[in-house]
Amino acid sequence: MVHISRVQKRPKGHAREAEVTDYVYGTHFAAQDLPHHEMAEREMPAAVAYRLIKDELSLDGNPLLNLASFVTTYMEDEAQNLMTDSMSKNFIDYEQYPQTANIQNRCINMIADLLHAPTAESPDDQDSIGTSTVGSSEGIMLAMLAMKKRWQNRRKAEGKDSTRPNIVMNSAVQVCWEKAARYFDVEEKYVYCTETRYVIDPEGAVNLVDENTIGICAILGTTYTGQYEDVKAINDLLIKKKIDCPIHVDAASGGFVAPFVNPSLEWDFRLPKVVSINVSGHKYGLVYPGVGWVFWRSAEYLPKELIFNVNYLGTEQATFTLNFSKGASNIIGQYYQLIRLGRHGYRSVMQNLTRTADHLATELQKLNFIIMSDGAGGGLPLVAYRLPPDENRLWDEYALAHVLRQRGWVIPAYTMAPHSNQLKMMRIVLREDFSMDRCNVLVEDMKMAMKTLEEMDRAMIEQYIRHSSRQSQSGKPDHPVYPGEKHSLQGKTGKTHAVANAINFTQETWTNDIFAAQAAHIDAFALNLGYGLHNYELILNDAFTVAHRHNFKMFLSFDLGQGSQWPADEIVHVIDNYATGSAYYKHHDDKPLVSTFEGGQSADVWKDVRHNAQSEFFFIPDWSSLGIKAASSSPLIDGLMSWHAWPAGAHDMNTTLDEEYIAALDGRPYIMPVSPWFYTNLPVFDKNWAWRGDDLWFDRWQQVLELAPEYVEIITWNDYGESHYIGPMHEDDLGIFAVGDAPFNYAEGMPHDGWRAFLPYVIDLYKSGGKNASFDKEGVVSWYRLNPGSACMSGKTTPGQLSVEGTNTTSPRTLMQDRIFYSALLESAADVTVSIGGASKTGSWVDTPSGQKGLYHGSVPIDGMTGEVVVTLSRAGEQIAQMKGEAITTDCRKNHGYNNWNAWVGSAMSEKNVASEKTSSNDKKSGSQRSRPAMTLLLGLVLLALV
Ligand SMILES: Cc1ncc(COP(=O)(O)O)c(C=O)c1O
Repeated sequence: MVHISRVQKRPKGHAREAEVTDYVYGTHFAAQDLPHHEMAEREMPAAVAYRLIKDELSLDGNPLLNLASFVTTYMEDEAQNLMTDSMSKNFIDYEQYPQTANIQNRCINMIADLLHAPTAESPDDQDSIGTSTVGSSEGIMLAMLAMKKRWQNRRKAEGKDSTRPNIVMNSAVQVCWEKAARYFDVEEKYVYCTETRYVIDPEGAVNLVDENTIGICAILGTTYTGQYEDVKAINDLLIKKKIDCPIHVDAASGGFVAPFVNPSLEWDFRLPKVVSINVSGHKYGLVYPGVGWVFWRSAEYLPKELIFNVNYLGTEQATFTLNFSKGASNIIGQYYQLIRLGRHGYRSVMQNLTRTADHLATELQKLNFIIMSDGAGGGLPLVAYRLPPDENRLWDEYALAHVLRQRGWVIPAYTMAPHSNQLKMMRIVLREDFSMDRCNVLVEDMKMAMKTLEEMDRAMIEQYIRHSSRQSQSGKPDHPVYPGEKHSLQGKTGKTHAVANAINFTQETWTNDIFAAQAAHIDAFALNLGYGLHNYELILNDAFTVAHRHNFKMFLSFDLGQGSQWPADEIVHVIDNYATGSAYYKHHDDKPLVSTFEGGQSADVWKDVRHNAQSEFFFIPDWSSLGIKAASSSPLIDGLMSWHAWPAGAHDMNTTLDEEYIAALDGRPYIMPVSPWFYTNLPVFDKNWAWRGDDLWFDRWQQVLELAPEYVEIITWNDYGESHYIGPMHEDDLGIFAVGDAPFNYAEGMPHDGWRAFLPYVIDLYKSGGKNASFDKEGVVSWYRLNPGSACMSGKTTPGQLSVEGTNTTSPRTLMQDRIFYSALLESAADVTVSIGGASKTGSWVDTPSGQKGLYHGSVPIDGMTGEVVVTLSRAGEQIAQMKGEAITTDCRKNHGYNNWNAWVGSAMSEKNVASEKTSSNDKKSGSQRSRPAMTLLLGLVLLALV
């Protein structure tokens, strides 16, 4: 039978069902944003809050696939239940939760036993001491405080200065060490890693110890490569040399690995010099974050003034922690793991991981990777590896990490600790849940990822790398108020993706650089500002604040090269914000000077800028690629700068173009560019070229003296990527090499400071029209390349920029001469000798000042010789100054097989002062008379946009 039912209408007067639903996605909460900034006035149902937050968190990565982290991602249900049960307990409340406190003590006993902590055998002996912490970082801070206090107490008792403590450690320490040193005012003394050694050099560490050293930190499992540092060697050296210096072992990861995998390794309290050790419970202690442990050999190493006896809720408690309240769950979790697993359980887990790590390393080796970590239990169960150098490979570790990320794997690519030549590497941390099966899946995915990259062409890879560096920028932005914060593996990775040359500049950096510029008689910095740098205002504020403080000047230069899209209104905004400041450089003390790098092709932007800016500025752009005629006839300019600072081809620099500029400007100011060198190899930016440097630094200043332009601009202060920097080297600002995918870091270890040595003299000559310059010390500056041209791979570097120079196919080998160049500042004629690897050559001068006093210049050929370079000035057989320089070598390993076309620069000044009466240089080239005051401006490519 079929029932047909009549549709019944709602009786009149019956209200419609209220618009209320408890179905999460039917509520109005699901139709609006979750509160971000202010608390809502009204409550939200628990189920809705739960679901919406959970949904949002689903965007986080899968912790199991996060092979970047050491921190535990798996615990049994029973452990989780116990931890949940104790979540409401405040650990500090000992009286209320005496069993929890008791459990902490049991954990301390058990872990201390693993570390061979001494226990009192007689009532006179002191037991070792330990406490739980939030993680190793807190443990390290407490240990640092204890070492510092103990050292201070001793110094005070001896009546000695106790204000300058230092700590010796590897440059590959985890960021918490730098943090602790900074927080507690302890100077960091680093033993730097090299390209082949990533752990501390025991001899180097012990040699750094002085009377102010509070201790040496040794790491049992470095964060970068997982390698164990040789604690025993440090211990034995200290004993042998009878040095009274304690060792702290940072066993954040290794503390729970080595005792099970490598029990005979002596690194812990078995060594008499080891006074304290930290371990992370939440790493290989197998507990969820955050729990850690720190131990002292005895109370002697934990000065009692650091211990607080607090009377809390009626009970006296001794505490040594950085904060008061903390949850009890993780300590309970730790106890669960210790009794659940016992020694056998931990051993099984750690041995499994070690075996799997060895298997993974073998598989990666088969794929041609270079393994940087130690296998077979010699280090942590992790695999650190890198690609072999290969001139033809288009992709790198960053690109590989990015492809793997798409499959869900989080495997970080980063650069090795400072002084390791920006070595790129990747690291896979094996945690207990990384079974052999998952390992094999990863290896297959790795093969697929490499295949994908091999099949991409250059354009695609570049797009890819650019995209991934943007992703990593947007994923880890600098803090808007504390930009450029560095260190920690994460920070380091982020940092290397930042291109701005001054992104890490602090007020201190500005101060130091301004002092260096002032010492060279430089008057101002041009701040070359790229578009799109989110924190540029903070950097500019610092720059102008410090310039004001030290009576230095700065001015803006807008980087408009390579499609940079500075909108007119934003240029106006920046000019109006800064141009009226007291530290802003004003042309003839009147109008603020504004400059550019390029932008001549879209010159019209400046019509709007001129029209809308409140400040009436003096505009001297560099519109070199527009051509002199077009640029000089633009009604928008007040003067011009030229970028033609290097000779195009295998010949020396001349002034043809400068003279054309001066003529075309017809009395308007010309900024003449001066630069010492140019070599760049940054494939991501399509840059791989060199110009002849050689005699350029000397020649060009002579040309300045000859032409006497109104302004001179040195290109540059800090562009390491193009090798024409003359300012101090900032480790933190060498990220360009990783971002630009340079085949190697060609600026590291290549100082250019020597090029500033004679600037005061030559700048004074220029400013005074050759009339007024003096010097009080004689000296020599020398520069040369460390590899003879034919020694290593040329790197396919072409001379000059192809688009500008046409199809120039000369090799840099013919462009640059294999010679040692030297300039000398002398009171009267002197002799120069150059020795290379001990073989001496008599040098000659190709340029001497008339009247004998002033700048001399010359060079000698290398003639295939290698070894240390020594340039000596002498007069009548008596030595005036001697510069000992870096060795010339045909060993190309440091540069991954490539020739370094950058220059090494050194200088040496005489001990004696010369009579310092002011003399004009009678130099034949410096005679022009000037009518207007000249300014030397220095261009630092200080700010750039992100790629
Ligand atoms: C060697 C080393 N020390 C200290 C720490 C900091 O440990 P935690 O995260 O437990 O504070 C880490 C973390 O990775 C580390 O690897």
